[in-house]
Formats: sequence, C-alpha cells, structure tokens
Amino acid sequence: VLEEKDAVEAVRCPHAASRAHSLDAIPGPTKWPLVGSMFELHRKGGLNRQHEALVDYHKQYGKIFRMKLAFFDSVNIGSPCLLESLYRKEGKYPQRLEIKPWTAYRDLRDEAYGLLILEGKDWQRVRSVFQQKLMKPTEVVKLDRKINEVLMDFMGRIGKINVNGRIKDLYFELNKWSFETICLVLYDNRFGLLKKEVNEEAMNFITAVKTMMSTFGMMMVTPVKLHKSLNTKRWQVHTEAWDRIFSTAKVYIDRRLKNNSARAPDDLIGDILHQSNLSKKELYAAITELQIGGVETTANAMLWAIFNLSRNPGAQRKLFEEIREVVAPDLDPCGEHIKNMPYLKACLKESMRLSPSVPFTSRTMDKDTVLGDYAIPKGTIVMINSHAMGTNEEYFEEAKRFKPERWLRENNNIHPFAHIPFGIGKRMCIGRRLAELQLQLAMCWLVREYEIVATDNEPLNVVHSGVLVPERELPVAFIKR
Ligand code: HEM
Repeated sequence: VLEEKDAVEAVRCPHAASRAHSLDAIPGPTKWPLVGSMFELHRKGGLNRQHEALVDYHKQYGKIFRMKLAFFDSVNIGSPCLLESLYRKEGKYPQRLEIKPWTAYRDLRDEAYGLLILEGKDWQRVRSVFQQKLMKPTEVVKLDRKINEVLMDFMGRIGKINVNGRIKDLYFELNKWSFETICLVLYDNRFGLLKKEVNEEAMNFITAVKTMMSTFGMMMVTPVKLHKSLNTKRWQVHTEAWDRIFSTAKVYIDRRLKNNSARAPDDLIGDILHQSNLSKKELYAAITELQIGGVETTANAMLWAIFNLSRNPGAQRKLFEEIREVVAPDLDPCGEHIKNMPYLKACLKESMRLSPSVPFTSRTMDKDTVLGDYAIPKGTIVMINSHAMGTNEEYFEEAKRFKPERWLRENNNIHPFAHIPFGIGKRMCIGRRLAELQLQLAMCWLVREYEIVATDNEPLNVVHSGVLVPERELPVAFIKR
C-alpha cells in the first residue's frame, strides 16, 4: 500500500520547515530536574496507563512533543505526516530503542543477538536471511497446514473447556495456541500445550517466557548495570528465565540442524537453518527472538478481535456470511480461501486500529534529521505512537467505532501512514505475514463454529504491560452455531 500511494502522499504532506527549531523548543509536559514528568505520569495512572497518558499529551501538545521520564528522554510523534517524513529519511540500518536487560543477558552468557536487539550491518545480514522467507506471502501461505493443525486442537480444547459458553482465562488459552503454532513453525515440534495435561517441559518453557517478559520492564527504566552489579532478585529471575528459554530452544534447533533429510515444502525455517551461512549461535538467538516476538502479540491481537466482534454483532454476521460463502462446510479454511475474504481482512485491520496490541514502537535517530518544524539530533529516541494515530478523529472519522467497511471503500482517504500495527519501514515486524495468516485462519475456524456474544456492555479498561491487555476477563461467551 505504501508504494502505491507514495506519490499522492508526498503531495499531501508538504512539511519541510523553512527553518527548523531546536529540540528544546518542542512542547511537552513539565521537565523537573532528575524526575522529568514522572510524577505527572504517575498522576495519570503510571506506566500501566502510559498509552492513555501519551494520547492525552498528543491532544494537548499536538503531533509532536518531548517528554523526560527520569533518564528517559524522548520525542513522541503521533501524526502520519511526521511518520511519513521519518520513513522517507530512514537510513540503511534503522535502530530501535535498545532493550538493555536482553543485551546484558546475552553479553553475560556470550550468546548472540537476534532481530529484536541487533543493530547495523549484523542486523541487516540476519534480517535478509529471514526476510526472504517470512515476508513473502507466497512462502508464508505454505504454512497454512501447520497453522490449521494447531487450530484443530485449539477448537477441540475450546469445545471441552467451555462452560455455558464461557472460557476461563481465555487469554492464557490463546497464548498457548499462539505458542504452540510458533513452536511448530520454528522447531517443527508439537509441545502439546493444548492437551488436558500439559507436559512439564512445555509448561516450563511457556512459564520461562512469561517470567522473562514480566521482569524486564522495570530494568528498562532503572539502570540494568546496577541490577547486575547488585545481583538483584529481578536480575536473577530474569537471567534464570533466559537460561531456561535458551536451553530448551537449543535442544530443538540442534535436533533440526542434525536432521538434514528432505524437507517438506512448508518447512521454511528448515531451509533457513540449513541454507543460510549464519553461525549456530546466531541461529539460536534469531530463532529464539522470533518466538519471543510472536507469541503474546498474536494471542493479544486475537483476543481483541474476539472482543470487537462480540460488541459488533452486525459485523460478525457479515463476516460469518463471507466465511460461509467462501469456505465449503466440509473443508478447512486455507490460505487460498483468505484471498477471497476482504471483509475478514478488514475486520482484523479495524480491530488492530481500535485495539492495538503494540501501541508504539521507537527509533533511535542515526543521523540529524528534520521532522516537521524541528531539528532532531542524532541519538534522539523517537517514539512512534500508532495508538494515538488510530484513535484520532483527524485521521479516522468516528474513530471510536468498529467499522471494517472503512477499509473497503474505494478512495477511503485514510492516510497510508495512519495505521501501522506492525511498525514501519525496513525494521517493520518480520512476523507480520505469519501473524496475519494465523489470525485470519483462526477467525475463520472460530466464527464458523461459534457466535461470539458480549456478556456485558460495560467499558473495558486497558492496561499497558508490554502489550495492551484488558484489565479484566474478557466479557464474551462462545455460543455454538
Ligand atoms: C517487530 C508487532 C507478530 C517477530 C515488531 C514491531 C511491531 C510488531 C510493532 C516493531 C516494528 C518497528 O519497529 O517498526 C507485532 C504484532 C504482531 C506481531 C502486532 C501480531 C499480531 C510477530 C510474529 C513474529 C514477530 C508472529 C515472529 C514470527 C518480530 C521481530 C521483530 C518484530 C523479530 C523485530 C524485527 C526487526 O527489528 O528486524 N512486531 N508483531 N512478530 N516482530 Fe512482530
């Protein structure tokens, strides 16, 4: 989409400032010495509600503002025009904010970095190996058989554990589904997470990922060096979790590396493991990070899609009709079917706009860059707020409403940079195609068999914990059709 509309958009966004102002001129919340606007953010609900606070700041200060939270100093952008400008000035190796607790662990154990934390030429070398397979729709569509294998088990499980339509801890069930799918794709191994009795190894693996994820946030805002030198409990738990993740992943990657017999056409990762010239250490890190990047994000997007359909029965009815028309009742939905399901794609896109899983991403500027009216020096952290854009009436009319149709209208007038759930540019999410196929197929299976109904219509508060999660159990029930 970006390429098609590039020419038009360049005309729509004429914003090269005649004289750029300095970083200090960017408006923003109070910057008290040392703490910056920590207290103000705290008053607005703290880090758990940072997504709402940042949307508020964009309303208050406009498309660009600067914020200091203790040592964390960032420029925040929430407009498609500024984003487009950033994209057009992107260098060869865009950088995201460093995830210091992760790099500290790798350095401690002498492990390599994967795509989430690599930088520069090394990032590009590893990225290009995986990109060839994972970003190509014709390659990814081959994974539909594996995705369906897990979905069949997921549907079986939903059928068994559903009590009067309610599924206890639906989010955990979705995480298990997503984990099982990614592991099948990456390690060609079934962990059995959707069985009644989950084996110990699988449970340890999923728990280790959960622990690792829940312990790194605090070490992003307090110096990880300090945690390491004081050997804090948090640092210990974090490193132990990584140890468990790496030791399990290595067993399965080694197993795959040993077996170089003929591979199935859908074994994309097998091809990469055997054909790339990445070292074993690089493969361990890259594969492990694909797993880390792909589990909760996909489960979370599915959770929100379920929620949005439950609150919009009209859209759900239309979706059900489309599924019925395209997929014969005796067939499993597959990649080919999805090509003829525009409404399904629009529903998922709309759900990710209204309820994004990852509300923002970041870039560390690798050169001095002019954005809008401001000169942004090299080294500045720029936060890109897709949540703020998705909820802004200026870019989406009736932004609070779930309207999949908005994506289907010709000349819909939606700025192509206003919706970026998977990020942007060369560093965009590499699992995007896989996630989309997973979500599309899962939606087909689920909506074909169940009507998803809202069990209440109360507001659902959202909390930031790496991804945006509902504050309470999702108020939905699954009624067999
Ligand atoms: C990066 C979102 C699924 C692996 C990202 C980024 C976002 C994102 C916003 C940052 C992009 C940027 O900075 O421009 C999502 C969402 C998903 C999803 C919403 C599901 C709905 C997946 C899956 C995988 C994955 C399934 C693995 C197969 C990664 C990796 C990166 C990344 C490795 C870093 C890429 C790089 O820097 O080169 N994702 N993701 N993601 N994602 Fe995803």
